[in-house]
Amino acid sequence: MTNNQSPIGVFDSGVGGLTTVRKLVNMLPNERVLYLGDTARVPYGNKSAATVTAYSRECVDFLIHRSVKLVIVACNTASAMALDAVQTISPIPVVGVIEPAACAALRHTKNGRIGVIGTWATVQSKAYDYAIKHLMAANKDGQDIQDVQVFSEACPLFVPFAEEGWHYHPATRLVAEEYLAPLKRAEIDTLVLGCTHYPMLADVIQDVLPHVALINSGEEAVNVARAILEEKHIAATYPALNRIVECYVTDKTTTFSQVAERFLGFPLGMAQQVVLDGH
Ligand code: DGL
Repeated sequence: MTNNQSPIGVFDSGVGGLTTVRKLVNMLPNERVLYLGDTARVPYGNKSAATVTAYSRECVDFLIHRSVKLVIVACNTASAMALDAVQTISPIPVVGVIEPAACAALRHTKNGRIGVIGTWATVQSKAYDYAIKHLMAANKDGQDIQDVQVFSEACPLFVPFAEEGWHYHPATRLVAEEYLAPLKRAEIDTLVLGCTHYPMLADVIQDVLPHVALINSGEEAVNVARAILEEKHIAATYPALNRIVECYVTDKTTTFSQVAERFLGFPLGMAQQVVLDGH
């Protein structure tokens, strides 16, 4: 059974989702958070839809068995490939990152040229293209935009650079220039950071694309989660700024805490290692 004081469950393939938790604790300071990083099976970004769906179901199942009241899929790859599947098995609301970020991109763009960067899996799934088309068709957003074009680039090396802490390293800058050159040429005015690792590299991305609005997909998902909590009257009332994050991982490496705290922006308590066996 869940109640208003139950935690919000967040999962990602690894540490990337902690950039979403960082936003979550600031935007919803009265909530408790239960985080699961599937660190034994990261990355999801180069795996098939069937595998990512199977892994995502296990992650959601784990969170539901720990009585969370809402799940945020803080992984673009899992949201792109498995959101429908996990929503089907879940008795509680499950919020992905794709539609909220697509919605924000449509709100921000003035010239209708939207860039999306993400893992190979996210880009190949065309989940953002479909979400933007769907939103346009439903005419929910982008009221002034007649014609929207989406330009996508996979940026797989951004994940290890972010985890290495090379946020301002010349190598990161070089790789960013290479990856983002086609988007610069396409004259995008809005860029979706379509991987929850990428906010860690936001400064270098912004340096390469100085006049482009960056959309943080995790932050947009938290906005949607907040609306659901309000609508369903299930917001918690813990004292603000307690930053209660209960962390579970499927593999604990020696560097996990150090990397995780960098992504989170504040100290993380002990992460508990678990086996995802359906409970
Ligand atoms: N954080 C994941 C995402 O948002 C990327 C890492 C991975 O490939 O598992 O897609």
